[in-house]
Amino acid sequence: MPHIPVLLKEVVEWLNPQPGQSFIDATVSAGGHASAILEKTGPTGKLLGIEWDPEIFKELKSREGMTVVNDSYVNIKKIAEEQGFNEVNGILFDLGISSWHVDQSGRGFSFQKEELLDMRFNPQSGMSALEVVNTWTEEDLTKIIKEYGEEGYADRIARAIIEARGEGIIKNSSQLAEIIGKVVPRRGKINPATKTFQALRIVVNGELENVATGIKEAIKILKNNGRLAVISFQGLEDKIVKSIFREAQKEGSIEILTKKVVRPSWDEIQQNPRSRSAKMRVILKIS
Ligand SMILES: C[S@@+](CC[C@H](N)C(=O)[O-])C[C@H]1O[C@@H](n2cnc3c(N)ncnc32)[C@H](O)[C@@H]1O
Repeated sequence: MPHIPVLLKEVVEWLNPQPGQSFIDATVSAGGHASAILEKTGPTGKLLGIEWDPEIFKELKSREGMTVVNDSYVNIKKIAEEQGFNEVNGILFDLGISSWHVDQSGRGFSFQKEELLDMRFNPQSGMSALEVVNTWTEEDLTKIIKEYGEEGYADRIARAIIEARGEGIIKNSSQLAEIIGKVVPRRGKINPATKTFQALRIVVNGELENVATGIKEAIKILKNNGRLAVISFQGLEDKIVKSIFREAQKEGSIEILTKKVVRPSWDEIQQNPRSRSAKMRVILKIS
C-alpha cells in the first residue's frame, strides 16, 4: 500500500505556504506533503527534502522546485546551508516510518512478516535490531523495552529473549514476535510484540535523540514569522517535541500556535487507520 500523507490538509493550513516561499521537508519520504506544499508555493517556490533511507531516496522523483538530500535531519542546519536554504518560511517533520517500511522494506519492521531483524532507516548506519536482540544483556534489554516501549512486561520479555538465544540466533521478526507472544497476554487487538518492536526501532535509529537535535537545529534556520510543524506517532516523541517547544517559548524565540494538539479527523482515521495516533504541534518563530 502506498504511503498516505497524514494530516495533509492540516499541514498545509498550519504551515500556510505562499507563492515564492522556501520550505524544508525534513522527512520527505515519498513526498506526499512536499508536493502539496510545492503546489502552494508555485513555480518560484523552493523545497528541500531530506530522507535518511537510501532506498526511499533512490526512488524519490524530483520535481520542479524540489532539491533532495540523502542524510539525517539531525544535520538539517548544515544541509540547509549547503543547499542554499539559509532562512526558510516553514519546516515539516513527519516522524517515524512510512508504510513502505512496514510493507516492502524487508527489514523486519513488521512482526507479521518473516524478515531479517534489521529495523534501521539507514542500514549503513548504526547497529541492527539483530545485534541488539542477540548480544545485549538481560538488564539492558529490560531497560530499553521498559523505557522506549513503555512495556509493563519488559522483565518477562527480556528473560524470554535470553532463554531463546540459548537455542540459537533470533534471526527474524516473526520469530521474535512468537517469543514475546508466549510470555505477554494479548491486549485486545494489539499484538503483544508491538511495544517491544517500538523500543527496538527507537534504539537502533536513535530516534529520540534525533528528534531532539533535529528540532532544535530546525528552529535556528527558520525565518522570523516562519513556521515549524511536527507530527509524531508515539507518546515519547510527542513529549520531547512539547518540551522543546515550551522551553523555546520561555526563552522568547517562538510562539506555540497549537494551543491544543492537532489530531486527525474521524474520517481520516477511517480512510487511513495508520493516522490514528498522529499528533501535530506547530510553532511560529518570533525572533
Ligand atoms: C512518516 S514518513 C514521511 C512521509 C511523508 N511526509 C509523506 O507524506 O510522503 C517518515 C520518513 O522519515 C524518514 N526518516 C526517519 N528518520 C529520519 C532522519 N533522522 N532523517 C531523515 N529522514 C528520516 C523515514 O525513512 C521515512 O521515510
